[in-house]
Amino acid sequence: MKRKVTKAIFPVAGLGTRFLPATKSIPKEIMTLVDRPLIQYAIDEARAAGIKEFIFVTAKGKGALEDYFDAAPELEKALRKKGKTDLLKELRATDMESGAIAYIRQREALGLGHAVWCARRLISNEPFAVLLPDDVISADKPCLQQMVEQYAETGGNMVATMEVKPEEVSSYGILSVTQTDGRLLTVDDMVEKPALEDAPSKCAVIGRYILEPTIMNRLKDLKQGNGGEIQLTDAIAQEARDGGKVYGYAFEGKRYDCGSKAGFLKATIAFALEREDLKDDLADFIKQTAAGL
Ligand code: UTP
Repeated sequence: MKRKVTKAIFPVAGLGTRFLPATKSIPKEIMTLVDRPLIQYAIDEARAAGIKEFIFVTAKGKGALEDYFDAAPELEKALRKKGKTDLLKELRATDMESGAIAYIRQREALGLGHAVWCARRLISNEPFAVLLPDDVISADKPCLQQMVEQYAETGGNMVATMEVKPEEVSSYGILSVTQTDGRLLTVDDMVEKPALEDAPSKCAVIGRYILEPTIMNRLKDLKQGNGGEIQLTDAIAQEARDGGKVYGYAFEGKRYDCGSKAGFLKATIAFALEREDLKDDLADFIKQTAAGL
């Protein structure tokens, strides 16, 4: 089945325990990389890839995330009055059309697979993208756009992938690859967080997916797997083992794991160094600080 991908699911119902105590009251996805919340990077990437319907799977305590997408007429008025047109433009760039966003509740954090399944009724019989906002990818052509273009040629289920270091293999979903054609990898199985000796490759699944609606049926029947959670990887792996089309896409770009503290800090530095207004000052500071280590 090959069709245009216009719907995306953003699973944001996780507990974000690695950022406690901050995430006690702030959703992880609202934490800022320089001056934009993580979620804004994912939204911009999805828009660039042609996504029109944005489905958030949220949970208790994520109110700030829902509020972020509201219109801000008072703020706009104040900026207009002060002639701050640049800031006004920044603000407008975050506007979402009425009806473009849907919020679905995950009642219990039963895992990423379960979160995706919660959106089943809004997906019905269409292919859909999944973006995990804590994977931030800096690329000339946004990662999901690269994948959507590939999907238009091949169809099937597609996961973003990159090679990781041997010691990192046990932290990721890992692909079993039967064939490689440029950036496209044909996959016949996937394993969630394997020990290095059991890992079929070092090709890790990164948080961008294009999935066929049949994956929803597989999720429905899944039991809690690794770590007591319902894993998205397990559903895609079943599809691959049953002969369904599953691909890895070795995207062009650099990925930051903003779900971890070190990854978030690295991303903050990298994104700030790309900004004309910040880079000289920050680069000096980094050099001086590093010299004192
Ligand atoms: P993580 O594995 O990073 O979990 O989830 P987490 O809860 O966000 O963070 P930690 O590990 O406790 O620090 C990966 C993605 O899946 C979503 C998360 O919101 C994140 O975007 N997720 C995870 C859900 O939506 N529901 C779940 O039950 C689990």
